[in-house]
Amino acid sequence: MEKDFISIYDYPREWFEEIFETARDVKNKTKSGEVYHPLKGKTMAMIFQKPSARTRISFEVGMYQLGGYALYLAPDNIKIGERESISDIASVISRYNDCIMARLFDHKHIIELAEYSSVPVINGLTDLLHPCQVVADMFTILEHKGKTDNLKIAYIGDGNNVANSWLNISTKFPMNLSLGIPEGYDPDKDIFERAVTSDVSNIQICRDKFSAVKDADVIYTDVWTSMGQEDKAEKRKIDFKDFQVNDELLKTAKSDCIVMHCLPAHRGEEITDEVIDSEHSVVFDEAENRLHAQKAIIIKLLTYFL
Ligand code: CP
Ligand code: NVA
Repeated sequence: MEKDFISIYDYPREWFEEIFETARDVKNKTKSGEVYHPLKGKTMAMIFQKPSARTRISFEVGMYQLGGYALYLAPDNIKIGERESISDIASVISRYNDCIMARLFDHKHIIELAEYSSVPVINGLTDLLHPCQVVADMFTILEHKGKTDNLKIAYIGDGNNVANSWLNISTKFPMNLSLGIPEGYDPDKDIFERAVTSDVSNIQICRDKFSAVKDADVIYTDVWTSMGQEDKAEKRKIDFKDFQVNDELLKTAKSDCIVMHCLPAHRGEEITDEVIDSEHSVVFDEAENRLHAQKAIIIKLLTYFL
């Protein structure tokens, strides 16, 4: 087993099935008020180069609920990669903590952090990937649809870190992954090619959102401008204008389709109020499941490696 959780691609399907089972178990325990402290005395350092609500809160609350402690290191605190080398800070943090979670810009930096860290490193988002998000998403789909396999997932919008992670999970769970993405905003080429050639799923890029969403079980979207791209926001609003998830688009999907968004949402841009607040929307279940799915990931990595 890998020491770190950097990319969904690194783990076999069975690993995710175990995560879903543990997530269900810890979710039930939390809901029933059962005290469950398998990580008593353990600590996690959380390094953030970018802002966060869900990731920071769910990891911090998750560690506390498991009997451990999470240390929040804000963008200005350790200034990763600036005050000292990534290898040095990885060695130092590993001496104090049992686990590291990091949200960084450059994906190469999280790989380096993991290489020099003696404790597990969890990817809390990089410019390239957002694996914890898509694990929680799949767990949410399992809860709402009763299965993970052979669903049509229509991802509408930017071929970003979330889209890349969907491509990675499509190599583990067979699906019809339909990407409605405007020209010039495709996902990472290598990740796309690897997913297509893995032959597990049926994957296509559509330049028309209606074709992408036709008969979908799940419509998924994310912001048009990700963290770090703010200077391109105005151009992106124009380039993505035909890729909004709205009522008209929802009618093209299956009648029992669910709508997902990793959040934060820019209401009125990539998704309308009508859709995100509709009975089809599961966005807050999805946000809640970050907590349960990540607790499962932490338990699995820490109990294996400690
Ligand atoms: N979905 C997600 O990762 O949210 P935050 O950026 O608020 O952590
Ligand atoms: N693609 C978005 C996801 C936020 C959770 C970003 O990187 O900003």
